[in-house]
Amino acid sequence: MLPFKLNLLITHPLLTLIALLLSTLTVFFVQFLAGKSRRRVFLVDFACHKPPESQKCSRESVVNRARQHGLSEQNLNFMAKVLQKVGVGDSSYIAKSIMCDPPIFTVEAAREESETVIFGAVDALLAKTKVDCSEIGILIVNCCVFSVLPSLSSIIVNRYKLREDISSYNITGMGCSAGLRAIGLAKQLLEVHPNTCALVVSTENTTGSTYTGTESSKIIANCLFRIGGSATLLSNKPSHRESSKYELLHAVHNQTASSDLSYRSIFREEDAEGHTGVTINKDLLAAAILTIEQHMKTLGALILPLSEQLLYVKNYITRRLSRAKIRPYIPKFSRCAEHFLPHVGGKPVLDELQKNLGFKDAHMEASTMTLHRFGNTSSSSVWYELAYVEAKDRVKKGDRIWHIAFGSGFKCSSVIWRALVDVRGDEKNPWMSDIDDYPVNLDNSGPFPYYFQPAKQQ
Ligand SMILES: *[C@@H]1O[C@H](CO)[C@@H](O)[C@H](O)[C@H]1NC(C)=O
Ligand SMILES: *[C@@H]1O[C@H](CO)[C@@H](O)[C@H](O)[C@H]1NC(C)=O
Ligand SMILES: *[C@@H]1O[C@H](CO)[C@@H](O)[C@H](O)[C@H]1NC(C)=O
Ligand SMILES: *[C@@H]1O[C@H](CO)[C@@H](O)[C@H](O)[C@H]1NC(C)=O
Repeated sequence: MLPFKLNLLITHPLLTLIALLLSTLTVFFVQFLAGKSRRRVFLVDFACHKPPESQKCSRESVVNRARQHGLSEQNLNFMAKVLQKVGVGDSSYIAKSIMCDPPIFTVEAAREESETVIFGAVDALLAKTKVDCSEIGILIVNCCVFSVLPSLSSIIVNRYKLREDISSYNITGMGCSAGLRAIGLAKQLLEVHPNTCALVVSTENTTGSTYTGTESSKIIANCLFRIGGSATLLSNKPSHRESSKYELLHAVHNQTASSDLSYRSIFREEDAEGHTGVTINKDLLAAAILTIEQHMKTLGALILPLSEQLLYVKNYITRRLSRAKIRPYIPKFSRCAEHFLPHVGGKPVLDELQKNLGFKDAHMEASTMTLHRFGNTSSSSVWYELAYVEAKDRVKKGDRIWHIAFGSGFKCSSVIWRALVDVRGDEKNPWMSDIDDYPVNLDNSGPFPYYFQPAKQQ
């Protein structure tokens, strides 16, 4: 025997309908409230470190430096060829310790390098935002291959006398995409910690990662790498709503490290003679495509305009129903953002990405010009790119900005921002002194002499 009320519901179809309607409405209402109460995350401002003139290094002097490291003429020629083709110009910056004769590879030198870059960026950020250090409740530092004791985050807490109860994290070993991963982590933390600010610092230690051996694939990574760093202030404080530049819309991260092919495609290891360096093997493109496809599926559902999503679904259904071979529809991702800012590393991967997402050369300008002016600064490069479009006065209120980065693992991360105001370049912008010289023409003729190490047999 059913309880009385349930009985009534079953016997009266109208009541059932009303009950169903009510429960649906409740579900919608709860979801709506949850969406509303999720804290909005703002990017108050960011800053990039600009090293002093004395650390500028032309391509020719990079090769000369390497000659002093004892590289053979054959390797030096290879290096010079890569540098001609890859798009790094003559005014990027190298570490002070590498400029010394002989170069210094001590912990002290590495710490000093990191400190100069980090303090340079954070000082500029604090000056720009005028935020009080006591307002910072979350600190995240990412630096791939450098690990000191105490950690870089402790170095920052100590220097700026940050709060004792600060949640601090240092992310190491996560490659070029770690900077965007750090933004994603800050977003998640800001969603649960009310009324606070998060400071995210991205940098890289190049002193210790200079490769001194003779394997071509390791030399490539070596000769593009330059120093740089960025500091970003995120906030969920309602009081920052008015003074912020951007709002964070989405942060999506995907990785395919469970596949051996992916996992092995970029690897830091010793070569046959015992010199440590980063190997990039020929599986890189396959790994990148696998990961980027998964990433785009997730991201596409969030950011593609409805019309593109419908075209995709229509194509998917026709492909399922018809026997004829129909090409899968590749949505026009170029319609998702006004400013596309992929990190500077890995030209073959970037070319592939540009082709597949339907971006034109003009869309890649911020990325290629950043590589030309500042070299590969790893995870902080996406911030030099945003500084570039700001310096060009291109960011208008409502514009969407798409940061995307890949890295060993294989990992792919995207962060999407919306501009809350028309943004203009300010005097702390690292591009300000030479923005009018850009964009420059790059010599794109001939194939890129990329060299992949054969994949290792397992
Ligand atoms: C943080 O840094 C310390 C010292 O550099 C290091 O030992 C530790 O593994 C790092 N933690 C993480 C999570 O990277
Ligand atoms: C960072 O640089 C220092 C100094 O050169 C070096 O001792 C250290 O090994 C480097 N870290 C890594 C993991 O390469
Ligand atoms: C990509 O990452 C997001 C989280 O950032 C996750 O929800 C999604 O399932 C991932 N996509 C794939 C295809 O693994
Ligand atoms: C740029 O630097 C990162 C960090 O070391 C490295 O993983 C990546 O392979 C570099 N990109 C290129 C094209 O060398």
